[in-house]
Amino acid sequence: MKRVITPGTFDPITSGHIDVITRAASISDEVIVAVAASPKKHPLFSLEERTDLAIRALAHLDNVRVEPFKGLLVDFCASMDAHVIVKGLRAITDFEYEFQMTALNYELNQHLETLFIMSPPNYMYLSSSIVREIASLGGDVSQFVPPCVDVALKEKFATALL
Ligand code: PNS
Repeated sequence: MKRVITPGTFDPITSGHIDVITRAASISDEVIVAVAASPKKHPLFSLEERTDLAIRALAHLDNVRVEPFKGLLVDFCASMDAHVIVKGLRAITDFEYEFQMTALNYELNQHLETLFIMSPPNYMYLSSSIVREIASLGGDVSQFVPPCVDVALKEKFATALL
């Protein structure tokens, strides 16, 4: 496979995301990690912060680059001349949502394929939202996120915990 897109909100990027991206990078020439603006999700981290954290967390992967985007994923893929989306699939609860997005993206552009990589058991129940919740309550998330994200979460919630 030549160029693949791994999209997400990455609020923030977790070890589960990094696992999927690493595996996508091992079976393709180039991975573009597409950080979605996702304004409806009211992200904890700004688009710039999420992009910067992803860049730092993935700096060790030579064939991976990170790009922020606003608007439709299918339009971003077209602008990057990419025809393959790779996403992680965790527990069965992900399936309905991913199935809907895959079907709609296919309706919008029939030249776009979406492939899934299954999460390994240790990341099956890991999500950005649960990491945010644990961190917001003062819990230790260092085993779930790269060091730069651990620091960023501590800084983000430092004032809230005072
Ligand atoms: O990590 P997430 O939040 O589950 O990723 C979802 C994401 C960003 C891949 C999805 O919301 C998306 O593609 N957003 C861009 C806007 C878009 O294309 N929406 C229509 C999807 S069918």
